[in-house]
Amino acid sequence: MAKTIVLTGATGLIGGELFKRLTKRGDKVRVLVRNPETAKEKLKGADAYAKWDAATGAGGEWEKLIGGADAVINLAGAPVAARWTAEYKQLISDSRVAGTRSLVQAMEKAAEKPRTLINGSAIGYYGTQPHLPDVMELSESASPAIDFLAKVCVDWEAEAIKAEKLGVRVARVRTGVVLSTKDGALQRLITPFNLFVGGPIGDGEQWFSWIHIDDEVNLILYLLDTESASGAFNASAPQPVTMKNFARALGAALSRPSFFSVPKQALALLFGEGAEAVAEGQRVVPKRTLEAGFKFAYPALPAALKDILAHEK
Ligand SMILES: NC(=O)c1ccc[n+]([C@@H]2O[C@H](COP(=O)([O-])OP(=O)(O)OC[C@H]3O[C@@H](n4cnc5c(N)ncnc54)[C@H](OP(=O)(O)O)[C@@H]3O)[C@@H](O)[C@H]2O)c1
Repeated sequence: MAKTIVLTGATGLIGGELFKRLTKRGDKVRVLVRNPETAKEKLKGADAYAKWDAATGAGGEWEKLIGGADAVINLAGAPVAARWTAEYKQLISDSRVAGTRSLVQAMEKAAEKPRTLINGSAIGYYGTQPHLPDVMELSESASPAIDFLAKVCVDWEAEAIKAEKLGVRVARVRTGVVLSTKDGALQRLITPFNLFVGGPIGDGEQWFSWIHIDDEVNLILYLLDTESASGAFNASAPQPVTMKNFARALGAALSRPSFFSVPKQALALLFGEGAEAVAEGQRVVPKRTLEAGFKFAYPALPAALKDILAHEK
């Protein structure tokens, strides 16, 4: 049966693809965006466009759209791959934590509450790991780290969990590095390869936990439709790779050499301080996601890269 969904982050990489899939299958999508006028151009066919700023989360007309919706999917957040001034770090946090808090407060006020909240999070929750090929695998039960990004994820998830007290089913999606050529990390990583200077970052022994954009969107839809799914779910492929193997696979897919290493400074130019997470790496496995019955279309990297690069625009 068609659902009514409130979606934040619909103008973003993941939200944009999800919006297309939801509308295609007949769901009604109410988008909460900073600029409804530009969203109307970009996201045709939404059920409603309402002004909402994740960073302030201030109340407004948008709150009325929460009542009567079947689910809220919250994917807003200022990009992490940027230069981190003290002010920007605050924005990274506020646009996730304050934004989520405002959505849950609106649910509290709504007479007819949504049944489900699918909330964004990131594998940054677990922090980074040392450059070792045999480091421990991080499943959903691993403890959170204490660095800046981990703390943002913990606070972000904590706000989402508050909705459980209202009887709302909450699924938290801890996303890895999303591979898509439309935007995001892969596009930035491809640049040095196309200049024939691509290769692993640093010693290449750090782990790279990735997910194909289709699997990311499929997983969000799966969690939306699976009434028994609640808690944390890692959205990263079952076969993470070391950065060395990622560079090899990307070089092969692009028919480019991959024997130069990318210095951390070059990565910082591409990703800003958010580069740390990529440079240090983490080995994440989607244990609960698989146990919940989700089937990855792209569990292994070579097929994922082949598919994404074939659809490059
Ligand atoms: N892509 C990845 O590799 C990845 C990995 C791990 C976690 N995630 C998380 O998954 C979520 C979606 O990722 P994405 O890649 O689709 O994100 P994205 O393309 O950067 O878009 C996220 C949305 O956040 C809103 N936003 C951006 N800057 C903002 C600001 N300064 N203040 C308030 N809102 C702002 C925008 O919504 P409006 O302009 O419509 O208001 C935008 O559509 C994010 O929270 C991200 O942290 C993504």
